[in-house]
Amino acid sequence: MDPRLTRVVKAGPQAAELAAKLLCAGDIVAIPTETVYGLAASAFDEAACRRIFEAKGRPQDNPLIVHVADQDMLALVCEEVPPDAVKLINAFWPGPLSIVLKKSRRIPDTVSAGLPTVAVRMPASRAARDIIRAAGVPVAAPSANRSGRPSPTSAEHVLCDMAGRIPLVVDGGACSVGVESTVVDVTGTQPIVLRPGGIRMEQVRAVTGSAAAAGQPAGDAAPMSPGVKYKHYSPRAMVHVFTEPDSVQEILAAYDTSRTMGLRPVILCPQSDLVLYKDRHARSLGNGSSDAERAIFAELRSADERRDDLILIEYTDAMGEAVKDRITRAADRCCHEAVTGEVKEST
Ligand code: TXA
Ligand code: MG
Repeated sequence: MDPRLTRVVKAGPQAAELAAKLLCAGDIVAIPTETVYGLAASAFDEAACRRIFEAKGRPQDNPLIVHVADQDMLALVCEEVPPDAVKLINAFWPGPLSIVLKKSRRIPDTVSAGLPTVAVRMPASRAARDIIRAAGVPVAAPSANRSGRPSPTSAEHVLCDMAGRIPLVVDGGACSVGVESTVVDVTGTQPIVLRPGGIRMEQVRAVTGSAAAAGQPAGDAAPMSPGVKYKHYSPRAMVHVFTEPDSVQEILAAYDTSRTMGLRPVILCPQSDLVLYKDRHARSLGNGSSDAERAIFAELRSADERRDDLILIEYTDAMGEAVKDRITRAADRCCHEAVTGEVKEST
């Protein structure tokens, strides 16, 4: 498909109608959500969902998140809603929290990647809910990036990865959260946070009483999210993450050494530390976790647009667990490539 054939339409009633028409006809379209842009298909249409995997280049064993507009739609996608899920829904929906539940028979195996469960969320984005409501079906939607790339937080990011692969991008502007939803599995004896995201671990714990992070099970073995084994969020530039207390000195040394090697480095740091890097190319991730979440994917993508070779990130705990997770994975992939020369696929 010619890249020029991908239309971009501003979110609104007409865009919702157009997107719904395409979804009902078995097409896939990019839609805005408050977290990141999603690549949507009717969750009941197995052939359409298969095309999501093709357009993304996504491994088949990584399941999709299903998005619902209301509680009636939730009843169509899952078998039961256990008490912890009810508490989480009351506290955080609509919003950036996906809940893993036992799937209903209507959800095709392509969506769940053969698992007996399905991850479901109700997005806070009005534009997203309007599209789902207009389509009249729950919508399966992973992030609308090509596999391995940073997630898209604007319509331009989506076009960059998907032009010529999909007919429509609904442009809802910049995403207000900027990192993906937190994924919580409530099918076991205690809630397990499989992926940190827009809702913090303490917020989940405050509502459910207990919750463990995947990989740190309390009691029996924690299930893992299939997606976590893949490398993610990688720009073309190498990513290095530096943590307190010596991060600034280490970044200064790495920056200056890389310049003498003829490379183009960029520093990403808290707003308050910009001055410490003087005339070096440093960019702000703002103050605190919400700012850093909104900025991180766009900054990883801009580094590629500028053809930077090296991204040096000054991470502070104030940036939060979701940003730490995303930049660590982006850096992991670089290390993996440097050591093995092999690029792993991701979601
Ligand atoms: O914020 C978001 O969640 C965005 C927007 C578009 O809603 N979507 C998103 O989807 O991030 P994706 O496909 O990029 O990430 C989905 C994650 C993957 O790590 C996947 O393995 C996990 O959710 N997941 C999906 N279904 C699951 C299931 N049944 N059990 C465990 N993990 C699941
Ligand atoms: Mg993704």
